[in-house]
Amino acid sequence: RTPIRAILAATDALAGERVVVGGWVRAGRVQCGGTVAFLAVNDGSCHASLQLVVEAAWVTHPPLARLAATGTSVLVSGVLRVPPGKSKERIELGVEAVIDAGEVDDPAAYPLPKGRIKLDRLRDFLHLRPRNDTIAAVARMRSELTFATHSFFREMGFVCVHTPIITTDDCEGAGEMFQVTTLFSQAQKADRDLRLKLAPHHDADDEEEEGTVGFESDFFRRQAFLTVSGQLQAEAYACALSGVYTFGPTFRAENSHTSRHLAEFLMVEPEIAFANLQDIMNYAESYVQYLCKWLLEHCMEDMEFMAKTHDKAAIERLELVSSTPFERVSYTKAVEILMGSAGSKKFQTKVEWGIDLASEHERYLTEVIFKKPVIVYNYPRGIKAFYMRLNDDQKTVAAMDVLVPKVGELIGGSQREERFGILKQRILEAGLPMASYEFYLDLRRYGSVKHSGFGLGLERMLLFATGLDNIRDVIPFPRYPGKADL
Ligand code: 4AD
Ligand code: MG
Repeated sequence: RTPIRAILAATDALAGERVVVGGWVRAGRVQCGGTVAFLAVNDGSCHASLQLVVEAAWVTHPPLARLAATGTSVLVSGVLRVPPGKSKERIELGVEAVIDAGEVDDPAAYPLPKGRIKLDRLRDFLHLRPRNDTIAAVARMRSELTFATHSFFREMGFVCVHTPIITTDDCEGAGEMFQVTTLFSQAQKADRDLRLKLAPHHDADDEEEEGTVGFESDFFRRQAFLTVSGQLQAEAYACALSGVYTFGPTFRAENSHTSRHLAEFLMVEPEIAFANLQDIMNYAESYVQYLCKWLLEHCMEDMEFMAKTHDKAAIERLELVSSTPFERVSYTKAVEILMGSAGSKKFQTKVEWGIDLASEHERYLTEVIFKKPVIVYNYPRGIKAFYMRLNDDQKTVAAMDVLVPKVGELIGGSQREERFGILKQRILEAGLPMASYEFYLDLRRYGSVKHSGFGLGLERMLLFATGLDNIRDVIPFPRYPGKADL
């Protein structure tokens, strides 16, 4: 099979070639008294479609009208040619044989219309929406960003570490976790009841000693959760392998119905031994610039499509970010700037020292004040996680957030608290169960090291790059309050 992307890229250079093409009919029409069908077929290799010309004389089954129905899958062979007469196509395929076709049961009931459809309506068809040009372009860009991420950290000499999804710690200490339970312990209990009935002298305690799961206790014998961040485990590896990163799904039970939050999202989290706050600001800036350059280099067609259909400024934004040093401003200074702007801009949330910056503040700083990415650092300790290194002023921690136009917070990171006594105190102050953090304290007991890291939300990066408005459209199967099916 030849990808349609390769055919369209070569234009008329491939005229006369015999090829096999497979894809799905986006739009089809039967003309000339039912003797010829023109099918716009897309195979996902690019957003454009190839025109297939099928003549009834060559193809008897399925009937042309069925073949032309939107959604039909076709695998055909034929010869590429320059269309005769005036045509907007530069190359088309004269089909000589239909090798295979998957017909659409009821063409009138096909859920996706031929023309444009609003992205929020498409969310009702998560399984069919990859056939939409926008969703397919996002999927390709997402795949490129994944590859670019591994490429960047590999070039830096970092080791990719797979941190667990099931954990007992709450990395962010915010209590926004999904708990993991088993249906299976119920089934086991029923099994035990049955066995006790059949053999009443059997001692269930023996089984526990043999290491089988207790009937009454849960699988892990502790409360277990889906991870909110792989950071703490990544730290364990950084404290041995120096430069590591983890890249996987993370989960937040935040009840927020915003266009920037998901209950399940992918996070890229580098963790670097011997690095301080300045160092990770540099890493974060280089990484984001690397991603932007990568997209400009590898996804220009999709970017142009996004710019044409969704956000005129999408390409300019990537170019600007890939080549401009990020602004760096302390939290205290950022708050002063925002308070100074109060006359000209009314914020929904009042700005004062100590607040967690809201999306409206973040976007104002990056879009209106600095007109480029901004790294805000040294946040008040009260609004940040327990693991962030306490600054000498005792009021702030060595944290940094990278804010970008269109999105606001793209990255959150910090220098970690490496001093045993202070860290222990902060875990206690945060009211976290010490038992779950003993391993974390061990890293400070045994060869503690200055280290730092950050997390980038992959979907936030895609929002920024595509210019789309809702984070639910840049992840294949979004999970948010009220939505976990499919
Ligand atoms: O700022 P956050 O919560 O930081 C951490 O989780 C750290 N443990 C990371 C680290 O230092 N290793 O999240 C990091 C990033 C945010 O900047 C944002 O891009 C994204 O993850 N993010 C979300 N993306 C989508 N939906 C949500 N609910 C998100 N919460 C955070
Ligand atoms: Mg954050």
